[in-house]
Amino acid sequence: MSMETIKNEFLADLSAVEDAKQLSAFWAKYFSKEGQIQKLMGGIKNVPNEEKKAYGQAVNEVKVWAQGLYDEKKTEVEKKEMMARYEEETVDVTLPADHVASANLHPLTSIRNEIIGIFAGMGFDVFEGPEIEDDDHNFTRLNVLKDHPSRDMQDTFWLTEDLLLRTHTSPGQIRVMDAKKPPIKVLVPGKVFRSDSDATHSPMFSQMEGLVVDEHITLCDLQGMLDQFVKAMFKGDVKTRLRPSYFPFTEPSVEVDVSCFKCGGCGCSLCKGTGWIEVLGGGIVNNKVLENCGIDSTKYSGLAFGIGMERITMLKYGINHMGKLFENDIEFLKQFKA
Ligand code: DAH
Repeated sequence: MSMETIKNEFLADLSAVEDAKQLSAFWAKYFSKEGQIQKLMGGIKNVPNEEKKAYGQAVNEVKVWAQGLYDEKKTEVEKKEMMARYEEETVDVTLPADHVASANLHPLTSIRNEIIGIFAGMGFDVFEGPEIEDDDHNFTRLNVLKDHPSRDMQDTFWLTEDLLLRTHTSPGQIRVMDAKKPPIKVLVPGKVFRSDSDATHSPMFSQMEGLVVDEHITLCDLQGMLDQFVKAMFKGDVKTRLRPSYFPFTEPSVEVDVSCFKCGGCGCSLCKGTGWIEVLGGGIVNNKVLENCGIDSTKYSGLAFGIGMERITMLKYGINHMGKLFENDIEFLKQFKA
């Protein structure tokens, strides 16, 4: 085939190319090893010696010319295909978005996280103990002696003569002190169980235990920390007051009240007219408890507190029945979207 014929055929074929598939067939026909241009190159062997140079030059020119046209076509095809893809993938940004139902944390979980966040800011770690405890951790080593009323069948869910569903998170104190020597600064959150059920009690509820053991820990440390806690939790200018109380594992023991954040202390339905709301129990760790864990009570002292998380949640969100926190009523829970 003469060069002219090949060039004409090349042009005719090229103008018929419209997409990538045709382009690659076209490339194979002209540029591959068995392609027309290669064949032209191979034709040199049939050319008389004196014409070889001119022939070679002419084939080279055809090759450069053909490559240039091919490259142009390639760019054109690629652009065309890209535009077609853009067209196909166009998104109408003015369309309304699909509704995605998002979940939210249970109010108790939010409060638990919030409490941990506040105390973590004061350097507390978090430890979690088992929900099934033995008598030793839940009672005896916490100085709750054999005849104490909280051991009563009425209050405690006993599983065997020795095992029970923990009635409070305080056994976490024993487990932490067994595992680690002072300084200790730890929170123990968790579920606890008591045979009790009414508007403000449920057989399962949750507590947050706090324990600090170090040299020179006093009741002032307890009040200072709890002051910080209630200010962060209930926002604004709330105060705490300590009232004497009794727990076997603390001596002295206190009940901690917070000034009513609803009425500012003037007296309202939330604080039952007293201006104060009881929020937690605490005290100085009883020396007997420290000694039960092998901690020298002449060198170290400790503070402890137990926060009822449902109570804090109910106070904070104005919930009047504890059952609401466990019913899993979606309409109720939806209100707590963060
Ligand atoms: N364990 C107590 C309860 O369940 C709460 C409590 C009171 C925990 C005083 C403490 C504390 O650590 O010091 O009622």
